[in-house]
Amino acid sequence: RPSVPFAPHPPRIQCSSCTLHYIMLSAWLPHETRVVLTVQMALSRESLLLLCFLTFSFGVIQCQMDEDNEFPKEVPVLQVKPAPGSVIPGCPADCTCTVEGTVDCGGVDLKEFPRNLPEFTLHLSLQNNQIERIPKEELLRLHKLETLNLQNNRLTIKGIPEDAFESLENLSYLYLANNKLIMAPKSLPNTLISADFAANFLTKIYPHTFGQKPNLGRAVYLHNNKLTDAGLPDSMFNGSANVDVLVLSSNFLKCVPKNLPPALGKLHLRNNRLEKIPHGAFDNLQQGRDNTLRNRNRNDKGKESTTHRKLSGLIYLDLSSNNLTQIPKGLPRNIVLLHLEKNAIKTIAKDVLVQIKNLEYLLLHNNKLEAKGIHPQAFLGLKKLHTVYLYNNMLERVPSGLPRRVNSLMLLHNQISEISRNDFATTYFITELNLSYNKLTSLKIHREAFRKLKLLESLDLSGNSLHTVPKGLPKNLRILRLKENEIGTIPDGAFSKMNTLKALFLSNNKLKTSSFYPGTWQELINLQVLDLSGNQLSYVPSDLPESLEYLYLQRNKIHTIFLSTFESTPNIKAIFLRRFNRLTADRIHNSAFENLKNLQVLDIEGNFKSTATDSSKEKAS
Ligand SMILES: *[C@@H]1O[C@H](CO)[C@@H](O)[C@H](O)[C@H]1NC(C)=O
Ligand SMILES: *[C@@H]1O[C@H](CO)[C@@H](O)[C@H](O)[C@H]1NC(C)=O
Ligand SMILES: *[C@@H]1O[C@H](CO)[C@@H](O)[C@H](O)[C@H]1NC(C)=O
Ligand SMILES: *[C@@H]1O[C@H](CO)[C@@H](O)[C@H](O)[C@H]1NC(C)=O
Repeated sequence: RPSVPFAPHPPRIQCSSCTLHYIMLSAWLPHETRVVLTVQMALSRESLLLLCFLTFSFGVIQCQMDEDNEFPKEVPVLQVKPAPGSVIPGCPADCTCTVEGTVDCGGVDLKEFPRNLPEFTLHLSLQNNQIERIPKEELLRLHKLETLNLQNNRLTIKGIPEDAFESLENLSYLYLANNKLIMAPKSLPNTLISADFAANFLTKIYPHTFGQKPNLGRAVYLHNNKLTDAGLPDSMFNGSANVDVLVLSSNFLKCVPKNLPPALGKLHLRNNRLEKIPHGAFDNLQQGRDNTLRNRNRNDKGKESTTHRKLSGLIYLDLSSNNLTQIPKGLPRNIVLLHLEKNAIKTIAKDVLVQIKNLEYLLLHNNKLEAKGIHPQAFLGLKKLHTVYLYNNMLERVPSGLPRRVNSLMLLHNQISEISRNDFATTYFITELNLSYNKLTSLKIHREAFRKLKLLESLDLSGNSLHTVPKGLPKNLRILRLKENEIGTIPDGAFSKMNTLKALFLSNNKLKTSSFYPGTWQELINLQVLDLSGNQLSYVPSDLPESLEYLYLQRNKIHTIFLSTFESTPNIKAIFLRRFNRLTADRIHNSAFENLKNLQVLDIEGNFKSTATDSSKEKAS
C-alpha cells in the first residue's frame, strides 16, 4: 500500500512468494504504476474471484472489489484449468477452455484468429499473440461473447471488418490495447461496459464508438495514441452518461474535450499539449455532493419519494505535463486530487482553488511558481487540503496563506533564503516539512519560526548553507535531516528535550570532534540512527545514547577505537567505519567490541591502507 496515492516516480509493487489473500490496488495509484505479480503458487478460488478486473495493457492493474461489481466472475486473463479429463469440443490445441464458456489462448503464438471455437464462449482471451485480422464470420458465430481480449496483437484497421463487433449483442469488455489501429471502430455494441484502446496509433474516434452506450460505466482507456482535438467528435459520449474513468494521457490534445460524460469521476489528461482550458470545459459534469441531486421518483404507489443519488462528481483530475501557465478557472468543485505538476504555472490567482472545497492533494511541483505570484488568499478555506507539493519551483520565500490543515509540505528545491517568524505561524498540523536544497543560512532561520509546529515529526533542512544546527527546532521531531550543509558547530542545547528523535542525519558537514558540546547526546534518549558520515571526526563521539542501533561514521578521520568507545551503546547493531578513516589494527582496542551482543555489521573496509595483502590479513583477523 503506497503511503501517498502518488509518487514522484511510479512505484513498483512486487509481490512474490507471499501468501496472496487478496489484492486491492487503490484507484488512486498513478496510471503509470507498473504492477509486477509473480504468482508462484496456485491461486485459490477465492483469491481468483477477488481479482476482478485486470488490465495489463499498460502495466495497469485495476482491481475493484465493490459489492456491486459487475465484472465477470471468470477472469479471462488468468488460466482456469478445466477438471482433468474434461475435453471441450472445439477447444484449440494450445488453449484452455472451460465448460462455463471461458477460452484462454493468451500468449500461444497464434498468427490467426482461431476457427470454430465453441459457440457458447462467453470470455475469449487472445492477448499476446500475432493476430492481424478478425474474420467476420467467426465473430458472427461467437455471438454470446461478453469479454473479448485482443490486447497486444498486430491488428490494423484493415484487419477489423467495418461492423465487426455489431453482432456481439452482449459484448461488455473489449480490450484492444497495444495493436496498430489508426482509427477506432465506427461503432461498438451498446452493451459495452469498459473499453481499452490504449497504445495504438489512433487519430480518430467516431460518435458511435463510445456514444449511445448507457452501460459504459467503467473506464475508457485511450492513452498513448495520437489523438488531436480534431480527432474527437463533439458528441463523443452523447448517450453514454455513466463513464467513470476516462484516460486520454499522452496524446496531442490542446483542449479539454467538450461534453465530457456527466458522471465522470476521474479524468487523466497528463502529457498532452493543453495550454488553456476553455471556460466552461467542465460545466457538463455533475457537481457532486454540495448540490446533491434530489431525484423525485414515483414509487409503485405513485407517491413521490426523494432519494439522494450517490454522486461524487469528478474527484481526480490529472493535468500534469502540459503547457499550462496558470491554474485554470472553473475547475470542478469536488476534486480531491489535482495534478498540475510539470507545467509552466507562474501564478495562483485568488479565486481558482477556493471553490474546490474537497481538495486534499495539490501537486504543483516542477512549475515556475514564485511566492509573490501566489495570492495570499489562494488557499483560503480549503480545510481538507493536507498535502501540497511545491518542490522544484522558484519560490524565494515560504508562500503566505498556506492552507491551515496542511500536514505534508514539500518545499524542497526552491530558492528560499529565509524563514521568518510567522511563516509557519498558522500551519499547526504540519507533520512533514521538507525544506531541503534551498538557500537557507543559519542566521536567516528565525529561532521562533517553528514554535507552532508541535506535531512536526519529520524535518528536512539538508542541502542548504547552514553553519550550525539551528536553534528552536521542534521538540517532537522523530526524524531530522541536516545533511549536506556546512555545519561545523552544534550550539549548546541544540538537541535538548528532543527525546522522541529516532533518526538524525548529519552526514557531509564539517563536524569535528570538538564541534559537539558536552552532553550533546544525553537528551536524545530514543535515538536509534545517527549518521555522521563524511565529516572530519578524529574519534567516535563519546557518550552516545544507549538506544543507538545504527552508527554511520564512514569517510571521517577516525584513527583510534578505545576500550570505552562503545561502552555507552550496548544495543548497537551496526557500525560503519569504512573508507577514509585511519584505523590500523594496533589502534583498535582488542576488547572494544566484546560486549556488543547485538552487533551484526561492523564495516571497516578500506581503512588499513599500507598494502593490499596486509589489508586483507587485517580484515581476516
Ligand atoms: C445476452 O444476455 C441476455 C441476458 O443475460 C440473454 O438473455 C441473452 O440470451 C444473451 N444473448 C446471447 C446472444 O447470448
Ligand atoms: C445525442 O443523442 C441524442 C439521442 O440520444 C440525439 O437526439 C442527439 O442528436 C445527439 N446529439 C448529437 C450532438 O449527436
Ligand atoms: C509545450 O511544452 C513543451 C515541453 O515543455 C515544449 O517543448 C513545447 O514547445 C511547448 N509547446 C508550446 C506550444 O508552447
Ligand atoms: C526531502 O527531499 C529529499 C530530496 O528529494 C528527500 O531525499 C527526503 O527524503 C525528503 N525528506 C522528507 C522528510 O520527506
